[in-house]
Amino acid sequence: MGCGCCGYGAIFLLAMSLAVAAVNGNVEVDALHEWRQIVSDPNNVMQSWDPTLINPCTWFHITCNQDNSVTRVELGNAGLSGSLTPALGNLTNLQYLEVFGNKLTGEIPAELGRLSKLVSLDLSNNQLWGSIPASLGNLKYMRFLRLNGNDLTGDIPTKVLQLIRWDHLRLFNVSDNSLTPSLPSTQTKGRPMVTIIIQDPTA
Ligand SMILES: *[C@@H]1O[C@H](CO)[C@@H](O)[C@H](O)[C@H]1NC(C)=O
Ligand SMILES: *[C@@H]1O[C@H](CO)[C@@H](O)[C@H](O)[C@H]1NC(C)=O
Repeated sequence: MGCGCCGYGAIFLLAMSLAVAAVNGNVEVDALHEWRQIVSDPNNVMQSWDPTLINPCTWFHITCNQDNSVTRVELGNAGLSGSLTPALGNLTNLQYLEVFGNKLTGEIPAELGRLSKLVSLDLSNNQLWGSIPASLGNLKYMRFLRLNGNDLTGDIPTKVLQLIRWDHLRLFNVSDNSLTPSLPSTQTKGRPMVTIIIQDPTA
């Protein structure tokens, strides 16, 4: 009886882990599919984004890790308009979000601050407006943060400026927006200057 129990237990556990894997896959499919539904895609770059698949790993412009979780979304210069969506914050293993050179409007979703593994966020050369979410300051592994060439306004949040103190940030470009110039020149004093900071000159 003991053995029978173990057998059922093992099968039950296996079924549970398959179910969990499927649920994880669906969260990422759902997030990307939701985004697809709110953008206009005249070049059909998202045509292969079939929401009935168990994961998005075979979709064009999407890269996954060995666990079939999304690590890259690469849609630069793709002709997209519409906006970003908070659902993108559900791509928990995302390292590269590259959507530069489109015509995306609206605000940068604060939920992108949940993408704790993000290495590169390139939203440059769109028409994004509103302020830079302070939550981007959570992204401690960020190396390349490109928000240049949008219509962003307001101050750069202190929390985001503090990314410069972490050793990872190499490039921080917020030029060509309507931001209040706010990068203190003392920020990197006393340590090697490793971050290239590009902002508009004080008016
Ligand atoms: C993120 O995924 C959860 C399920 O894990 C879902 O309930 C939630 O609505 C998703 N968030 C967004 C913004 O879509
Ligand atoms: C920074 O942004 C400006 C304005 O979009 C652009 O002209 C410049 O090439 C960018 N520099 C780097 C190093 O990304």
